[in-house]
Amino acid sequence: MMETANVHPNSLDVIKIVQLTDLHLFDDPNGSLLGVRTADSFQAILDRVTAPGYEADIYLVTGDISQDYSEGSYRRFATMAHQMKKPMFWLPGNHDDGPLMYRIFPSLHLSVARQIFCANWQIIMLNTQVYDNPCGYLTNEQLTFLFRCLEAHRDLNTLICMHHNAFKVHCAWLDQHDLKNSEEFVSLLQTYSNVKCVLCGHVHQENDFFNGSVRFISSPSTSIQFKPNSDNFGLDTCSPGWRNIQLFKDGHIETQVFRLPVGLYTPDWVATGY
Ligand SMILES: [Fe+2]
Repeated sequence: MMETANVHPNSLDVIKIVQLTDLHLFDDPNGSLLGVRTADSFQAILDRVTAPGYEADIYLVTGDISQDYSEGSYRRFATMAHQMKKPMFWLPGNHDDGPLMYRIFPSLHLSVARQIFCANWQIIMLNTQVYDNPCGYLTNEQLTFLFRCLEAHRDLNTLICMHHNAFKVHCAWLDQHDLKNSEEFVSLLQTYSNVKCVLCGHVHQENDFFNGSVRFISSPSTSIQFKPNSDNFGLDTCSPGWRNIQLFKDGHIETQVFRLPVGLYTPDWVATGY
């Protein structure tokens, strides 16, 4: 298994990232999540972020690629991901079958690299999945891998990606399934001044704040959106979306969220859970 990858950006001054997260694809091409046909909403976003002239050096897919753990959903994802003409890296979410993904993705011509070198940045893809459990956890293997990446490359600005949120979003129903050893993780980061950002999915909503010198960001799903500051399950009226991120040579980051036009891919508003 090739653990590292090298990507050469168009410009050494800025690396252009597109984050896509929480696709929730099904084996059935018409499969829908609370009324949203997830393959359709993902394709609509893919059409935009792969259009001629759209600038991306790297695509990052931060988990919940599947909703039904099926091999068919991953085969569909692979076919769709091949529309990205630039390198794509991914990690599993709680709705995924991580071991299945690591086993079959190489045969689907998808990289399984978890440390990506690009100009004076490294991007680390961590696996927080606890098999068959919605909570997140970084095992000793993952923490050791992170520690080794950080120790070996103190000279590189670092972006860390994972599925689960390592911070509270103030939605009790979501926060019960956050990263369970976030304190250990965050205290490790605070000892490395080269760690600039932690990027996640899972919460299907935007967050962007600093904890010390580290910026923590979550992003909209390409399918359904969860209502911010809601202790019980609730859907937001925002459309499916994605995030662009620019990693600058001096270590600073700029980012923007984009969404599909209002009214496309609206969910079943009376849903009480998923
Ligand atoms: Fe999700």
